[in-house]
Amino acid sequence: MAGKKKPLVVITRKLPDPVETRMRELFDARLNVDDKPMSQADLVAAIQEADVLVPTITDRIDATLIEQAGPNLKLISSLSNGVDHIDVAAAAKKGITVTNTPNVLTEDTADMTMGLILTVPRRLVEGANVLKGDGKWPGWSPTWMLGRRIWGKRLGIVGMGRIGTAVARRAKAFGLSIHYHNRHRVAPQIEDELEATYWESLDQMLARMDIISVNCPSTPATFHLLSARRLALLQPSAYVVNTARGDIIDENALIQMLQDGKLAGAALDVFEHEPAVNPKLVKLAAKGKVVILPHMGSATMEGRVDMGEKVIITIRTFFDGHRPPDRVLPNRV
Ligand code: DGY
Repeated sequence: MAGKKKPLVVITRKLPDPVETRMRELFDARLNVDDKPMSQADLVAAIQEADVLVPTITDRIDATLIEQAGPNLKLISSLSNGVDHIDVAAAAKKGITVTNTPNVLTEDTADMTMGLILTVPRRLVEGANVLKGDGKWPGWSPTWMLGRRIWGKRLGIVGMGRIGTAVARRAKAFGLSIHYHNRHRVAPQIEDELEATYWESLDQMLARMDIISVNCPSTPATFHLLSARRLALLQPSAYVVNTARGDIIDENALIQMLQDGKLAGAALDVFEHEPAVNPKLVKLAAKGKVVILPHMGSATMEGRVDMGEKVIITIRTFFDGHRPPDRVLPNRV
């Protein structure tokens, strides 16, 4: 971009230092070094001036906001895999391109999901908590701290995209048999590799699984996909793991089932009203029924740097006059 005016890029949250440094070299980058979340008013001010907005999942880029964008705003390059925080249709209507950062979060999120699949049945947090206080422990006993075996159980994956498939690969190595529900059946080679069973009917799959892992995106079609009615189909010995988005599960219904002993447990990295966490879930966590994490499924330094790199490549490509990779189209959301 030598000789050209650098695009004004507003980045809404603090990014890893190497990403911010490169952004400053390449762009007129407005950083948020204090990492204070921007209010809607701050966002309005930003988009009235900026050529590019780099939001994250904590920003609400809705139609009302997009409507107020200034004439220079041509690109919203979200540092995220999910785009449920952006009204992509409203952006398209205003001629603004939206991109995301898929692929680079897949393995990290799948690792975290696999960790959670193990954590509740094997009571890892409960065990760690025994030694956390004064470190006192009555000693080993054949009937103490018994969890449930993972090997040989059935895992039902809701959403067999990139992350769901990466979870399946890990889970297969742990001896779980792989089942999945997806809008489309995956390629036969992948089914063969994973020895996976496809369920066209989510209801039928739910009723037969030992562990459910939610790995689909949050869209209007997946809102409360695991509704009260569907959760009630699960066996009382089943576990639910969610590293996707909180609103895919009817959280109140899930809590009620856990409280009533109608489910064995849950491990949640995401919540319906994030960053608020339902206090009932916190209580259940204290009892060991639930493990809750503060949305850290993709939180690795390498992952965040890779996401930042993707955003940089997107902005460069766009201002070099090319169609950027990872465009999010309204009809694909
Ligand atoms: C994303 O980018 O969508 C992730 O949920 C962030 O962890």
